[in-house]
Amino acid sequence: MLVNAKEMLTKAKEGHYAVGQFNINNLEWTKAILLTAQELNSPVILGVSEGAGKYMTGFDTVAAMVRAMDKSLGITVPVALHLDHGTYEGCYKCVKAGFTSIMFDGSHYPIDENVQKTTELVHVANALGLSIEAEVGSIGGEEDGVIGMGECADPNECKMIADLGVTMLAAGIGNIHGKYPANWPGLSFETLAAVSEKVGNMPLVLHGGTGIPEDMIKKAISLGVSKINVNTECQLTFAAATRKYIEAGKDLEGKGFDPRKLLAPGVEAIKETVREKIALFGSANKA
Ligand code: 13P
Repeated sequence: MLVNAKEMLTKAKEGHYAVGQFNINNLEWTKAILLTAQELNSPVILGVSEGAGKYMTGFDTVAAMVRAMDKSLGITVPVALHLDHGTYEGCYKCVKAGFTSIMFDGSHYPIDENVQKTTELVHVANALGLSIEAEVGSIGGEEDGVIGMGECADPNECKMIADLGVTMLAAGIGNIHGKYPANWPGLSFETLAAVSEKVGNMPLVLHGGTGIPEDMIKKAISLGVSKINVNTECQLTFAAATRKYIEAGKDLEGKGFDPRKLLAPGVEAIKETVREKIALFGSANKA
């Protein structure tokens, strides 16, 4: 059931658990994530980066596929279709395409410009019944060719953006997209606690969910994180399962080259990763 992310995140914040945002790249990813959320009776957010949207031939294609698949699979759990790290223009494109949720990432703008653009997009989202995520303090690492330095957010700036009426707020707390380097110092719980105190009931978003140790995830949830984004981990488990299939020569046996067979182990691997994350985030049976 396609919905915006407001109610699922309000409930998560109140219930001290987090809803997973799993990024999608194609039909296999979408199907694996929807089926697993339904199996575990969990709300879920499908994240679409601008690069993945382009890869899938545009946001119209993505929205049409997700709506149709949600219906064909008889999905009853709440599903939000969300733009991940959207540009100003990208947000408008997704609104037009029928997404139920957008993220405007204005973290690289000076704070005044971030405030101004976020304010405008909050009005648009509210008028159309969409949820909207904003960002303060950039997330480190590389995503779609954009390199972030991973600075910690200023709690006062977080309050400024939260007060604009966004649904959820991504605050940089030393988190990084992609794999964490061996010398990563860990999440800054000091920053998270300070941001939490400033923004009160606002659901906070933890980007870069791949590779964060379980105890840190649990602590982050206890300090107000209600949405956790996972992308790279599904890509890694998909790739490893596909590699195993090919290295075992299975594609050369019978009709093992059929894409439905070739991609099946990867799909099962994504499902298992999503199952583990939903269990860790505590969103099972919260649909
Ligand atoms: P990872 O790729 O590190 O899991 O991060 C995902 C993310 O934050 C998407 O916005």
